[in-house]
Amino acid sequence: MPTYAVREPLVRWLSAEARLAFDALGRYRLLDVGCGEKPYRDLFAPYAAEHVGVDPVANPLAELRGPIEALPVEDASFDVVLCAQVLEHVDDPAQGVRELARVTRPGGRVLLSTHGTYVFHPAPVDHWRWTHTGLERLLRENGDWASVRVTPGAGTAASLAMLNAIYVEHVLRRTPLRFLRGGAVSAINRLGRALDRRVSLLREPRPGTLAANYHVVAERAS
Ligand SMILES: C[S@@+](CC[C@H](N)C(=O)[O-])C[C@H]1O[C@@H](n2cnc3c(N)ncnc32)[C@H](O)[C@@H]1O
Repeated sequence: MPTYAVREPLVRWLSAEARLAFDALGRYRLLDVGCGEKPYRDLFAPYAAEHVGVDPVANPLAELRGPIEALPVEDASFDVVLCAQVLEHVDDPAQGVRELARVTRPGGRVLLSTHGTYVFHPAPVDHWRWTHTGLERLLRENGDWASVRVTPGAGTAASLAMLNAIYVEHVLRRTPLRFLRGGAVSAINRLGRALDRRVSLLREPRPGTLAANYHVVAERAS
């Protein structure tokens, strides 16, 4: 899969956070904002008493319909709010974050992921990209949080490798060498990860680095 540097760390992070939320909060009510196909349902199933999906478009997997900017739920009604790969698609991210804060109960938490650097991918629109400082500022300015932690999903080399792998896959798919594309994508992504493992400077957000995706844990003040 060309997008390995986004998806694999995201699944690993959400698996850990699903469990950590259970350890801190017990069995929780989970709101999945912009749930799409609810791809992380199985990760949360052992810990969530309820997994409520909300999407702004007709979606048979979503229990509720509405945009992040006006969530159709009561104040403080969820313990954990998941918002995975949605924020880059919304009209008003600041209002979206205010809504995430509003619906999360005091002491509860938001698990959010969104892109740093990525290809244009409208769903149905694609408006925003962030740096780790910009994303932290967006959260802090739009909610009463006890803490906000922003971490890159993968390092610079893995992110660059993934962006290249996307285009290598596109090109090979259109040639007689299409049978090579799985191996080529996997080799490029493995090389990126190996470089990040060896060079710590590539893993940390500092001048000169980039990240394809960020993971955010924001805890509501009690
Ligand atoms: C890339 S998909 C991600 C779906 C799912 N969260 C995942 O991680 O696979 C983007 C989702 O955001 C939803 N979306 C787009 N604009 C939105 C908005 N303003 N408010 C809430 N969700 C939105 C889309 O309907 C879609 O389900």
